[in-house]
Amino acid sequence: MSDLTWPELPAVQQPVWPDEAHLERVLAELAAMPPLVFAGECDTLTEQLGKAALGEAFVLTGGDCAETFAANTADSIRARLKTVLQMSVVLTYAASLPVVKLGRVAGQYFKPRSNPIEVRGGMELPSYLGDAVNALDFTPESRKPDPDRLLKAYHASGSALNLIRAFTQGGYADLRQVHAWNTDFVRDSTAGQRYERVAGEIDRALRFMQACGADPEEFHRVDFYAAHEALSLVYERALTRIDSRTGAPYDVSGHFLWIGERTRAVDGAHVHFASTIRNPVGVKVGPTASPDEILEVVERLDPDKTPGRLTLITRMGAGTVTEALPAIVQKVEASGHPVLWVCDPMHGNTFEASSGHKTRSFDDVLAEVHGFFDVHRRLGTIPGGIHVELTGDDVTECVGGTAGVAEDGLGQRYETACDPRLNREQSLELSFLVADMLLKR
Ligand code: PEP
Ligand code: CO
Repeated sequence: MSDLTWPELPAVQQPVWPDEAHLERVLAELAAMPPLVFAGECDTLTEQLGKAALGEAFVLTGGDCAETFAANTADSIRARLKTVLQMSVVLTYAASLPVVKLGRVAGQYFKPRSNPIEVRGGMELPSYLGDAVNALDFTPESRKPDPDRLLKAYHASGSALNLIRAFTQGGYADLRQVHAWNTDFVRDSTAGQRYERVAGEIDRALRFMQACGADPEEFHRVDFYAAHEALSLVYERALTRIDSRTGAPYDVSGHFLWIGERTRAVDGAHVHFASTIRNPVGVKVGPTASPDEILEVVERLDPDKTPGRLTLITRMGAGTVTEALPAIVQKVEASGHPVLWVCDPMHGNTFEASSGHKTRSFDDVLAEVHGFFDVHRRLGTIPGGIHVELTGDDVTECVGGTAGVAEDGLGQRYETACDPRLNREQSLELSFLVADMLLKR
C-alpha cells in the first residue's frame, strides 16, 4: 500500500459518489489488492517509448474508446488483440521498425464528458461516465454512480490482462501465426487480401531463417502493454504503490496512463497525480492548447528529461493539425525535453451523421495522420506513433474506407458505448497507409 499523500487540488471530471462511506470501503479494498502490472514492466515500456522518441521504434496504441464489462469476453479481447497484432505486423514489415504495442484495454473504464447531463425526450440524467462508475442505460438507477463498479473494473482489468498475457506469451502471438490471425477475414476484404500477401512473404522469410538454424525468441511472443486514461483519481491513487526495488511510486492499474484533454490543467490534480508516479505517462493535446501551457505541463511531468517518460498525444483535427501543431512542437523541442510525439487522429474528428450517429470519417482520420507526419517532417522532428480507437469486430461506427461504410449504414452495427471506433478492416487499411508514411518519414 502506498504511503503517499495527495494535496487538495482542483479535480475536474470526478463523479459525485452518493455514498461516501461505501466509496471509502471500496477504496480500502482496492488499496489492498495485488498489482495488475509490475514496476519493472513499466520501466521496460519507458525504455521502448524512449527509442520511439528517437525514431528507432514506432508506437501503436489501439482499443476501445470505453471498455465495457459486457464486452470483456475472450472473443472480444482476442479480436482486438488480433487487430493490433495484424496492424503491427504490417507496420513492422513495411517500415522495418520495431512496433511498441499498447492497448486501450484492461482499465479503460472511465470517461470524461463534455456535458455532465444527458437529455433525452425531455428527461435529464447524469451522463454515462464509464462502466467503472455507472451504466449506459438511460434510467435514473443505471446512471447513479456505484462504488462497487470500481472493484468490478479492477477485477475485469485483471482477467483481461491475464488473457492477454496468455495470448501474447503462450503461442497465439507467435509470428508463425500471421496467417491464422487473418483466416476469418481474408476472402471479402481488400485489406485482408493485401495482408495475406505480406503474411506470405513473412512466412517465406521465417522458413528461410529456420532452415539456416535461426529461431529467435522474439518470434514466439510479443510484449503488449495496457494503457488507459488516468481519470478517476480515487481509483488511480488506491492502486498507486511504492515499489520495493526502486522506492518509487508506480500506478499499478496499467503500464501507461494518460491525462485527457479536459483534465490536463497544469495546476490541476490530474497533472499532479501523473507527476508523482514513475510509469510512462501521456498527455492529450488538442487544438486550443497554447505552446506555453504545454511546455509547463512538460516541465512538470518530465523534470529530468527522461526519454520515454512523456508522450504528447496530439489530437488536433484534420483541418487544424498543420496550423496548430507546429508552434507546440517547436516550443517543446526547443526546451530539450525528449518527448515522444503520437498522433490521435480520432478525437479531433468527431461529427454527427445525418442519421444522428456520432461518427468519424476514415478520410479525416487519414488526413490528420498525414498532417501529423508532414508537420514533423517539415520541422525535422519525429512522428513517433499513432493512437486509435478500434475494435476487432465488423462494426459500422466510422464512415469510409475501402469497405465503404456509408452514413445511412451506420445503424447496422453501431455498438460503441462512447466514441465511434474503426472496425477491423478500416484499422488494417489504416496500418498499410501509415506504413507508407513511415517509409517516407
Ligand atoms: C479518449 O481518448 O477517449 C478521450 C476522451 O480523449 P481526449 O481527452 O483527447 O478528448
Ligand atoms: Co474516445
